[in-house]
Amino acid sequence: MTAEPNLEKDIASVLLPEEKIKSRVAAMGRRITEDYAGKRLIMIGVLKGAVPFLADLTRCVPLPLRYDFIAVSSYGAATVSSGAVRLLKDLDLSIEGFDVLLVEDIIDTGLTLRYLRENLQSRRPASLKIAAMLNKPERRVTDITADYCGFTVPDEFLVGYGLDYNQNYRNIPYVGVLKREIYER
Ligand code: IMP
Ligand code: MG
Repeated sequence: MTAEPNLEKDIASVLLPEEKIKSRVAAMGRRITEDYAGKRLIMIGVLKGAVPFLADLTRCVPLPLRYDFIAVSSYGAATVSSGAVRLLKDLDLSIEGFDVLLVEDIIDTGLTLRYLRENLQSRRPASLKIAAMLNKPERRVTDITADYCGFTVPDEFLVGYGLDYNQNYRNIPYVGVLKREIYER
């Protein structure tokens, strides 16, 4: 029997407070606004973790833009990537000829974004870049890097601001370190 998640007690420490995330997202938005002025921008959020980041980021980019979502298989309840990526939900929009910005919560091994980059590149966008809220470089096994990156983070299991453990904790407004006892029990 698994205990019910507790949004306060299960967090060992706050890594990124809400205000710090907010000002960083605003700065990323300013850069993206400069870079994409006059372009045909589509932001693609990777479900479900990128939802808060995409929602905040799009509102810091006062340009005409569209957004859409794609879903791939994730870790499930495990905290270690299986490496196998599968498409679960495709885009509704065509991206051919558009300037695509792929928006992800965190780059860990890089396997998810390597798959998505290849998959989307084959649809012939005018350009394809990556915006990641968090970058966990220690576990990278591919050459994936973010064109726009929020924060570089240590190799710990993080939750909040879209990041989950077993589908919970996504609605925490900050990024915190999950207590080991939660995922090791
Ligand atoms: P990658 O394919 O290993 O780069 O994994 C990317 C995905 O793993 C992210 O979109 C997250 O859903 C998940 N992930 C990686 N690290 C964490 C973490 O610390 N907490 C929660 N989810 C994570
Ligand atoms: Mg994800």
